[in-house]
Amino acid sequence: MPSTSPTPPWNVHRLPRADGRVFLITGGNAGIGYFAAEQLSATGATVVLGSRDPGKARAAGDSIRARVAGARVRAVRLDLADLSSLRTAVESLGVAHLDAVVHNAGVALDDPPRTETVHGHELMFGTNHLGHFALTHWLMPLLSAAPAARVVTMGSFAAKSERLDLDDLQSRADYRPKRTYGRSKLAQMYFGVELDRRLRAAGSTVRSVVVHPGGALDSLTPSRPPVQVRNTGARLRAAPAALLVQGKDAGAWPAVRAVLDPAVDGGQLWGPRVFGLRGLPRREPLWPQLADSGVAARLWDASCDLTGTAPGPDRREAPPHGA
Ligand SMILES: NC(=O)c1ccc[n+]([C@@H]2O[C@H](COP(=O)([O-])OP(=O)(O)OC[C@H]3O[C@@H](n4cnc5c(N)ncnc54)[C@H](OP(=O)(O)O)[C@@H]3O)[C@@H](O)[C@H]2O)c1
Repeated sequence: MPSTSPTPPWNVHRLPRADGRVFLITGGNAGIGYFAAEQLSATGATVVLGSRDPGKARAAGDSIRARVAGARVRAVRLDLADLSSLRTAVESLGVAHLDAVVHNAGVALDDPPRTETVHGHELMFGTNHLGHFALTHWLMPLLSAAPAARVVTMGSFAAKSERLDLDDLQSRADYRPKRTYGRSKLAQMYFGVELDRRLRAAGSTVRSVVVHPGGALDSLTPSRPPVQVRNTGARLRAAPAALLVQGKDAGAWPAVRAVLDPAVDGGQLWGPRVFGLRGLPRREPLWPQLADSGVAARLWDASCDLTGTAPGPDRREAPPHGA
């Protein structure tokens, strides 16, 4: 019998080296994005923090450099709510190729009123979905220039029970903040799956993976002052929650694995092992609604119209509608 050496189990604390590779993390200045950047910096890769706030980005970069000897980390100004700024943001990356982008940044509103981006798109749908959709368009030449690049999209368990209303993607008729947030994350997840379908059909070397962090609380997250500060009181009060959910350091694990692990393939969904809420990253079956390629295609067309972009290796530039 031929002997095959078993693949060693994935160790979130002993990541493979990634020297020479370049990773961009949107919202890398805070929360899960910060911890993804810190973990990826320890692999020797160049990590670019996409951030709308240069002060926060500087603090995050300083924190990573203080913890990771020789970290190659820098920042680029990136505001996903302003579609007209994304081309310039990508040009200012100043790299010849990009090995992975983690679409991590996200906005979640708890209360009304309904808010819009500068282009008149509902803020959560506009930032979380349309912003990353358009960013992918502008990044595609850099991703295609890498040998096997990955687009990693951060979904959410909040999307699991949602369905898209294709006739009211912007929640104009009926706005409920939590539902609109969940739908914006669902739209991102449809995008991640559909992008992979299209990349494969076009023979691209780029792959698209969908991940989600489970439940990740600041109060369970280790301190990284001034980026993230947790006092003893908050830590003690949050201790019971650790049975169910986790910190943002662990919330970053599925995304980090999707960036680095050659065993992760495009079109897959990865999340935490324990009830999809906490624990080590593992592959999950694709949620049934995400397999609906008809909904994905309609969302894709609407997103092209709304952003004036069309991500893919056969990138075409349409005139922007409201962008
Ligand atoms: N935490 C959870 O339990 C959980 C669960 C499911 C999914 N998620 C998803 O995981 C991702 C990260 O969540 P988190 O808990 O780490 O959130 P967070 O701590 O609030 O951090 C969000 C990040 O997104 C950035 N951001 C927001 N709007 C932006 C914009 N217009 N342009 C650029 N960056 C923008 C924020 O920048 P500023 O610092 O400038 O605000 C920040 O860096 C999100 O996509 C979220 O939907 C989180």
